Amino acid sequence: MSKFDEMKRIKDEILVLEKSPLFNYRTENKYFPVIGEGSHDSRVMFVGEAPGQNEAKTGKPFCGRAGKILDELLASIGLPRSEVYITNTVKDRPPGNRDPEPVEIEIYSPFLDRQIEIIRPKIIATLGRFSMAYVMKKFELESALQPISKIHGQIFETKVSWGEMKILPLYHPAVAIYNASSLDTLKEDFQRIKEYI
Ligand code: URA
Repeated sequence: MSKFDEMKRIKDEILVLEKSPLFNYRTENKYFPVIGEGSHDSRVMFVGEAPGQNEAKTGKPFCGRAGKILDELLASIGLPRSEVYITNTVKDRPPGNRDPEPVEIEIYSPFLDRQIEIIRPKIIATLGRFSMAYVMKKFELESALQPISKIHGQIFETKVSWGEMKILPLYHPAVAIYNASSLDTLKEDFQRIKEYI
């Protein structure tokens, strides 16, 4: 099956994911699930938390205010958005942008796992503490987990079936909406991605 078809299968499965506690909220509001966007052959994969309202209305990841910051960060390292793959841990919008519940992460993360297998990135940059915790635990880095304020911008290495992969925990771009110094920190941390592109 082609990478495109594998991604399409993921989308089709999520569209009918009635067991998700977010399914009714999505359909009642005529929202879309947000599967992911970008190059299926990218060396760099970004994993955010969950869609916000703009994303659920359009089906596209990071297309609201946090997305503008992400665009600025990508531009700061000369990396076109079309050349990376961007997705989230949870594929449907939690009501009122609340934090994802553990059960939601459990239900949606197998789809993220499959997306990682399809893309086979050299580096996964996690955006925010939920994707950091999920991705680091999945790749046997649980013992290195610390609060994001301690380990943001550090590269962690893991072995995968396609060789070596790095994990780079980053703050969520939304933190920079009201805080210019967080934007500087994010820009600095983004520099670390350059060597993998
Ligand atoms: N925040 C996220 O974590 N993901 C999005 O797609 C948008 C905002």
